Amino acid sequence: MKKSPYHVIKESVEFAKQKEGIYGANFVNAILRRYINEVLDVIKKKEPDPSIDMFYRYIINNRSMPFEKNISIGYSFPEWMVIRWLKRYGEEETIRLCAHLNKTPSFTVRIEASDKEKEDIIRHFEKKGIIFKRARFVNDAYYINKLAYVIDDPVFKRGALFVQDEASQLAVIAVDPKKGDVILDACCGFGTKTAQIKYLAKDARIFSIDRDMKKLNKNRNRGNLIKGDVASSPFKKEIFDKILLDAPCSSLGIIRKHPEIKWRLNEKDIVRHSRQQLAMIESLWPSIKKNGFFIYSVCSFEPEETQLLIEELKKKYKFVVEKPLPLLFNNRYFISLPHKTDLDGFFIARLKKQ
Ligand SMILES: C[S@@+](CC[C@H](N)C(=O)[O-])C[C@H]1O[C@@H](n2cnc3c(N)ncnc32)[C@H](O)[C@@H]1O
Repeated sequence: MKKSPYHVIKESVEFAKQKEGIYGANFVNAILRRYINEVLDVIKKKEPDPSIDMFYRYIINNRSMPFEKNISIGYSFPEWMVIRWLKRYGEEETIRLCAHLNKTPSFTVRIEASDKEKEDIIRHFEKKGIIFKRARFVNDAYYINKLAYVIDDPVFKRGALFVQDEASQLAVIAVDPKKGDVILDACCGFGTKTAQIKYLAKDARIFSIDRDMKKLNKNRNRGNLIKGDVASSPFKKEIFDKILLDAPCSSLGIIRKHPEIKWRLNEKDIVRHSRQQLAMIESLWPSIKKNGFFIYSVCSFEPEETQLLIEELKKKYKFVVEKPLPLLFNNRYFISLPHKTDLDGFFIARLKKQ
């Protein structure tokens, strides 16, 4: 049953009076009236907009404390993170970003199969109540509504489906693997991107490197796996046509899927990651052939790990920044801001060595 706010106050005050006497009742009355008045005032100030929820309006109009504190408490984000975003995006967009990162995440799978097999796989899952919706940018990608049921299913275990956000799939599209290419997947982890490269260019020679043996053990790129430190590259000069470095990062772009990230990190970590990313790029750079490509990606949208890093590289190395996804996004870099794209926060740069 819906009750008016004033009705709710009246009942709460009555209840407090019975339990705590007149002082308790006055206290509850004061708190609730102030809260309701502030919320209602705020709502009355602007034209109703269905895309802006009541809480958003309350936060943007509440100036009773420093604004960064207001967002930090209201949306549960560390203050240093909010301050960063406020400087870059302004008030409205920062709130939208925080609100979006608090939403339940959506998941995407990539299916490696013929069109007929794909139809069968989708039908199999749809019979179990899982909805597959064709993704917006990548051909073989589908948004799904229930992840747990998919990964527990024997069809998933057969290995034709990969859980991989569409933004991460776009990094491989930016590699643009071709027949005959010699490609390095640096920081390959379990090999999700190696598999996608292989799928797109069956005749490419792909090497995968990571320092984590447990991840390499699950990687299917048998025969071409290297356990090693990317910041101290074991590779000879000018041997790869393309290098994809999907570098370790602050991971701010995947807070929806891993909300603990925001409380684990501090601002210094962003700088620490950017120094490690630079060391990795510098160590791999000599191994790209002349006119070869370096594709750099991270699940972050912080400038130190993204554009600023590429600007810094420009002072040392000769390369042209190519648009990584000209047919999809005609931008110099691909930067996914989650509240705008509804994908993970992500960055892709494609550098052509001179
Ligand atoms: C963002 S994850 C890569 C995910 C992977 N590319 C994928 O698509 O599933 C970063 C990876 O870097 C690896 N890593 C971190 N520091 C490294 C280093 N110094 N040398 C090699 N690998 C490293 C981690 O083990 C982790 O697998």
